[in-house]
Amino acid sequence: MRIAVAGGTGLVGTYTVQAAEAAGHSVAVLARSRGVDLVSGRGVEDALAGVDVVIDASNVDSRARAEVTDFFVSSTTNLQKAAAAQGVSGIVVLSIVGIDRVPEFGYYAGKLAQEEAAFAGPVPVTVARVTQFHEFAAQVMLGMRRGPLAPVPSMRTQTVAARSVGAELVRLAGEPFTGETVEIAGPRPESLVAHARQVVARQGKRLLVLPLWVPGAVGRGLRGGALLPGAGARLIGPSFSEWVGSEDALTPRL
Ligand SMILES: NC(=O)c1ccc[n+]([C@@H]2O[C@H](COP(=O)([O-])OP(=O)(O)OC[C@H]3O[C@@H](n4cnc5c(N)ncnc54)[C@H](OP(=O)(O)O)[C@@H]3O)[C@@H](O)[C@H]2O)c1
Repeated sequence: MRIAVAGGTGLVGTYTVQAAEAAGHSVAVLARSRGVDLVSGRGVEDALAGVDVVIDASNVDSRARAEVTDFFVSSTTNLQKAAAAQGVSGIVVLSIVGIDRVPEFGYYAGKLAQEEAAFAGPVPVTVARVTQFHEFAAQVMLGMRRGPLAPVPSMRTQTVAARSVGAELVRLAGEPFTGETVEIAGPRPESLVAHARQVVARQGKRLLVLPLWVPGAVGRGLRGGALLPGAGARLIGPSFSEWVGSEDALTPRL
């Protein structure tokens, strides 16, 4: 099968490309650094020539509602249009568990708009709603650190390894597209602040992790477990404690 991975140079996209190639598929990577712009549509249709299935693991470097929504709606609509023109049989969309329970957070509002845009298109879709990655604590610290201090939201999260998510996305790409939304999560709920401290220690950094009490509905949702998976979720390892001892825990680098 030929699989296109949108965002195939990113954190989870790189693991997705590796899993697809290891399973014997041929892969097309869609990213600006590969000459394809999902937002303007430049190069998308050409890149999907001969592609059977698309996995969308793209992302935008913003948390602002309007910017995030614009990115995901434009990119998803362009992918749908080009996929239909090239006879692609399905699109796997990478989304996040619980976004409908915390829509006040601008980034999650953008992801909900992405899911809607995906289902509105002509090509059949599977939405993979995934919990935060084991790598999420490092991603948050990279975005929020100020000198030696790293504020990290107090929240409960059932994180999953980005490498394992990549393999699951490839598995979903090989299944029938029935318009389903599936949930994927790690083995157990844990504290993001505790994760952050373990990642700092693992990477040998001098960084003081400060629990951040996020105000309002977003904070209540994060602390109250709104992002935890439901009973039907597929739970996959490794656990955070197994993962943090592995080489994968050195990426992204603080
Ligand atoms: N982080 C988490 O814990 C988590 C949990 C669940 C789901 N997710 C979802 O997982 C997805 C991927 O997240 P990530 O952290 O792996 O992303 P990432 O590392 O930031 O990678 C983003 C990818 O998108 C590409 N990209 C950005 N703008 C583009 C454009 N205009 N045209 C084409 N490609 C573009 C980037 O390549 P170029 O820069 O070369 O364009 C890169 O390959 C996101 O949709 C996110 O919502 C994340």
